[in-house]
Amino acid sequence: MCGIVAYIGNREAYPIIIEGLKRLEYRGYDSAGVSVLNGKLTTVKKKGKVSELEDAAAKENMHGTVAIGHTRWATHGEPDDVNAHPHHSGNNRISLVHNGIIENYSSLKKALIELGHEFKSETDTEVLTHLIEEYQKRDNLDLEDAVLKALNKVVGAYAIVVFDVNNPDVIIGARKSSPLVVGIGDDEYFIASDASPIIKYTNKVIYLNDEEIVRIHRGEGVKVKTIANELKTPKIQEIDLKIEALEKEGFDHFMLKEIFQQPETIFESMRGRLNAELGWVKVGGMDDYLNRILNAKRIIILGCGTSWHSALIGEYLIEDLARIPVEVEYASEFRYRNPIINRDDVIIAVSQSGETADTLAALELGKEKGALTYGIVNVVGSSISRVTDCGSYIHAGPEIGVASTKAFTGQLTVLSLIAIYLGYKRNTLSEAYYRQLLYALESLPAKIEKILQSNDQIKYIASEIQHCDNALYLGRGYNFPVALEGALKLKEISYLHAEGYPAAEMKHGPIALIDVNMPVIVIATNKNAYEKIHSNVQEVKARKGIVISIVLEGDQKIKEISDYCIEIPETMDPLSPLLSVIPLQLLSYHVAVLRGCDVDQPRNLAKSVTVE
Ligand code: G6P
Repeated sequence: MCGIVAYIGNREAYPIIIEGLKRLEYRGYDSAGVSVLNGKLTTVKKKGKVSELEDAAAKENMHGTVAIGHTRWATHGEPDDVNAHPHHSGNNRISLVHNGIIENYSSLKKALIELGHEFKSETDTEVLTHLIEEYQKRDNLDLEDAVLKALNKVVGAYAIVVFDVNNPDVIIGARKSSPLVVGIGDDEYFIASDASPIIKYTNKVIYLNDEEIVRIHRGEGVKVKTIANELKTPKIQEIDLKIEALEKEGFDHFMLKEIFQQPETIFESMRGRLNAELGWVKVGGMDDYLNRILNAKRIIILGCGTSWHSALIGEYLIEDLARIPVEVEYASEFRYRNPIINRDDVIIAVSQSGETADTLAALELGKEKGALTYGIVNVVGSSISRVTDCGSYIHAGPEIGVASTKAFTGQLTVLSLIAIYLGYKRNTLSEAYYRQLLYALESLPAKIEKILQSNDQIKYIASEIQHCDNALYLGRGYNFPVALEGALKLKEISYLHAEGYPAAEMKHGPIALIDVNMPVIVIATNKNAYEKIHSNVQEVKARKGIVISIVLEGDQKIKEISDYCIEIPETMDPLSPLLSVIPLQLLSYHVAVLRGCDVDQPRNLAKSVTVE
């Protein structure tokens, strides 16, 4: 959470920072700020979105070729102009932006107040600026050494960029548990939370490792060391990211674009990994550790939010198709509950961003205990992709809408491939069933295209339920986690209360909520539990609930007793979540738009949760 962008070079820095902050707004958007060096330090900070910062900065002289910027998701101190970043040192020489949490900030702040420092904000970040100032003054250190010393005193997580008005040719960045990427152009340099603000100017980047500090000196270039002061040779990588991938390309919202991209992104997740005609599937990421994975006593899948829902479907898939016991855990619970982890366990972390703090920390715990770690990640070069022993990218391309859609189906595609691959290798699938699964996977993109044609019908249904206060989502088997995901999507972006339940559990509580105002969205596409779901729909109708059913094409029986019905093409049960989730994504999108909500940047949320 929080986005950082910095520039040093020969161009006007301010427009680069503003454009970069807009690209990073998915990381937090409750306030934003920018500092420019132009003989003096000019800082403008504003509560609200980057556009409000732009309005405020229009009245100031923002010229200069060195600048840092920040878009915030508040942790310490409410979102307002004062708590917005950048923060200055007491002597107004240093300006700093920060993503993360300084956990020991109150003891540091107390000590600094005793030394005469005065603070303006309630943030943990401001403490860092005063600490750096203190070391510069007391120990006569230059900026780099003072930053190094300060970072050795702080406990917590950070990605920072800092500069000093007395040294306008230098910017310093550092990271611990929060991402930071350095972009290398021609005599110009960038630092950002991800590559999106950089890609327009250069595709050469350095992903900073944990506990590394980078010093960029105009004219002298880049120097990287650890915070223990050891010099490192940075690895410059070329990234393959197209600027169009970061634009809406004619869609009203990124979320809608990303929903409509799914036929293509699912194809990308499968590319090179299966061929139904020739009867092969391969998950290259497993090659180096295949025996260990095939003989795992247990697989533990970790994730948060939507990725946790994919993990649940992963459990159903791997147990069903490969017959390996699987446990699924919220990463945040797993890491703090003293879990039993054995050396013959395999831990799979599912994460779109590859940066979620809890998932990362849980993985590290697993690694420490000797388990093999595997990442299913979207963002190339992200922290999880680097700390895991092995893994598979989902290749969905940048997901910018805060509510995850194409990353979810990309994760499901990779989890399906893994389950089928392991099942094939472990001989737990008949040849015929295996082949059928491969053909079914290959035909998914075309089937999703077909579901997307129901967009207008789904928009109409959304208009019918937009004024409800609550919604219930029901599913069974493979579609139970899809019910959870459908409810989460609605909550996230339309601020309606929604709950997902296993259909049979409805009778143990939620049924008490059903009345004429309650939409009940029933995923009724499972062939093996059809009659039971049919009964559940009747139970809802008997209580006068509004039934919106997702059924297989041609299904008349459930359609007849539903108020609204969305038909989707048939596939094999293990793959059905990949289709049944699409109408639910569209439904929540349209409800949110009709309710006037900010679909891509819902209140209080952030896409990349880099704090616990
Ligand atoms: C946030 C996002 C969700 C996402 C979750 C996990 O809550 O808003 O969309 O599912 O984090 O993120 P990850 O990047 O680990 O998948």
